[in-house]
Amino acid sequence: MRTFETDRLALRGWEAADADFAFDLYSRWEVQRYIGREPKVMTDPAQAVALIERLRGHEHPVHGYWVVVERETGAQVGTVLLKAIPASVGVERDDTEIGWHFHPDAWGHGYATEAAAIVLRHALDSGIDEVVAVTAPDNVASQGVCLRLGMHAHGLSDRYYDVTCALYSTRA
Ligand SMILES: CC(C)(COP(=O)(O)OP(=O)(O)OC[C@H]1O[C@@H](n2cnc3c(N)ncnc32)[C@H](O)[C@@H]1OP(=O)(O)O)[C@@H](O)C(=O)NCCC(=O)NCCS
Repeated sequence: MRTFETDRLALRGWEAADADFAFDLYSRWEVQRYIGREPKVMTDPAQAVALIERLRGHEHPVHGYWVVVERETGAQVGTVLLKAIPASVGVERDDTEIGWHFHPDAWGHGYATEAAAIVLRHALDSGIDEVVAVTAPDNVASQGVCLRLGMHAHGLSDRYYDVTCALYSTRA
């Protein structure tokens, strides 16, 4: 998987040593509350170990799951993902989704936008025509990232995950 650097951040693959960070991130309701059809927090550190094993096993020439690290301190601050997005039942689509999950201690610094911008650029430069992002309708913070990335807002859509989401997209 490719790695990236921005002014303040480095993006690299998940490592087994990130398990404590993954558990700290995904055991928090403020991180999980808008993620998934039925949001729930991790309750067992073994879940974080299993997640990292699953993510490390995912191989794709362009897609990926990156850990975002603050260059100055070496601390993990979040994750950006680029992956196939499941279409809703009855919808024929084969699209690529970008997403971001950051630790609350790292919110409010522009880190999510800075990290996602380089992954978005990588996707479009690698031949992906269109990248979509979906957020829960109330997830204003994530919608802000989409807008700061210059993504186009399409309003609410039922196209993915069998739920109603706010849909954003960017074309090459
Ligand atoms: C969605 C999420 C990543 C947004 O994080 P964020 O820190 O608000 O987003 P950004 O990285 O774009 O940072 C923007 C904020 O940093 C501020 N900021 C401070 N210094 C900055 C700098 N040097 N450059 C840019 N922005 C800066 C901006 O003013 C803005 O703050 P504001 O919202 O108070 O106006 C975060 O809320 C999160 O991880 N939520 C839980 C997981 C989740 O819901 N993920 C999305 C699922 S769809």
